[in-house]
Amino acid sequence: MFELSSRLKQAPLGPEVETSQFVAQHFAQWKLGLPFETALPLSKHVPAVIAVGGGKGGVGKSIVSANLAATLAQFGYRVLVVDLDLGCSNLHSHFGIAMPKRSLAEFLLTKTASFRDVILPAPVQGVAFIAGGREETWSDQIDQSSDYLLPLWQSLIASKQQFKVDIVLLDLGAGTHRYTMDFFTCAHLGLVTCLPEPTSIENAYVFFKMTLWKLIDNIGRRLGQQEIAQDVKAALVSLAGGSLSNGYASSFKHLQLSYPHFIHELLKAIQGRCMGIVINQTRDQSDIDLGSSMEHICQKYFGLPTKYVGYLNYDEAVLKSLKNRRLLVSDFPHSMIAKRLSVAASHSLKILGMQRRN
Ligand SMILES: Nc1ncnc2c1ncn2[C@@H]1O[C@H](COP(=O)(O)OP(=O)(O)OP(=O)(O)O)[C@@H](O)[C@H]1O
Ligand SMILES: [Mg+2]
Repeated sequence: MFELSSRLKQAPLGPEVETSQFVAQHFAQWKLGLPFETALPLSKHVPAVIAVGGGKGGVGKSIVSANLAATLAQFGYRVLVVDLDLGCSNLHSHFGIAMPKRSLAEFLLTKTASFRDVILPAPVQGVAFIAGGREETWSDQIDQSSDYLLPLWQSLIASKQQFKVDIVLLDLGAGTHRYTMDFFTCAHLGLVTCLPEPTSIENAYVFFKMTLWKLIDNIGRRLGQQEIAQDVKAALVSLAGGSLSNGYASSFKHLQLSYPHFIHELLKAIQGRCMGIVINQTRDQSDIDLGSSMEHICQKYFGLPTKYVGYLNYDEAVLKSLKNRRLLVSDFPHSMIAKRLSVAASHSLKILGMQRRN
């Protein structure tokens, strides 16, 4: 049986990162934004969690997740990457391997495998992964109860102590399903992947809006003020004149008059969020510049602080590596896209207050 800790031990080790500076500095604000079901105990022994979302399908979430994991492992971290595209999972293909028999479906749905059993070796030193499984009933089950996902969150958080995992990377599914937003808002860093195309940009903004909505809902539940949460959302929509492009951030001050405590807590939770933007498949400078405009718009319209983590150029190497059944950064380690992934990984670490170990 594959032993995660022995496999990960092969990764070059640096000084132990007890906890990221980010968690230490921001936990007070951040914990309020967590989904009600997933309250994270304040501990310096948790892995840094990075979620990769984007709202739209096919924007590169899985490519970013798999290759960022490998790049972070090259930097000296032990990384566990999890396919949360439940029912349509294909993260394994980006590692060049066939659909594994053991997946999250066996751990969470049929309960025929333990968490340890579903952790599989990735063909990269320092990286292990968990497949999502193709169980068609996944989304129905999760719609009925989010209890399905709680054991996963708990196991991921415990993975630092149990398996010495430093970083957990979550490859989220397309769309803004409740569980997708749960994991995105639970993560210490949420990356939004976007293509330089109108439909993808639109979906990315919807994704940011849903993040704001999720934070409002979470605060409502934690404070036992769900009705106020609904009122706040309705007021934000009404003050923006029903248009996403008018934004909500300018209305926070106005709403503070009616709901001072709630908005105070919301602003704290927003400031505690760490979010990054990745523009994928860039072809020219205007595509590259898109990340900075989105960073600005997210702050202005949603009040959400985001950082432009980096761009990935359009590269034939992506398709070639998929056809070669090899991980992109292993197959084309000297390609421009591998260099861009390295930049994105460095920026992500910086946001988390972590450093390269080698
Ligand atoms: N930088 C790139 N250069 C060239 N092709 C790319 C690039 N990024 C992604 N692609 C193409 O887009 C496809 C989709 O990428 P990927 O599977 O990572 O997207 P996804 O967002 O995870 O999709 P899904 O929502 O279906 O999970 C890849 O199979 C590849 O063919
Ligand atoms: Mg995917």
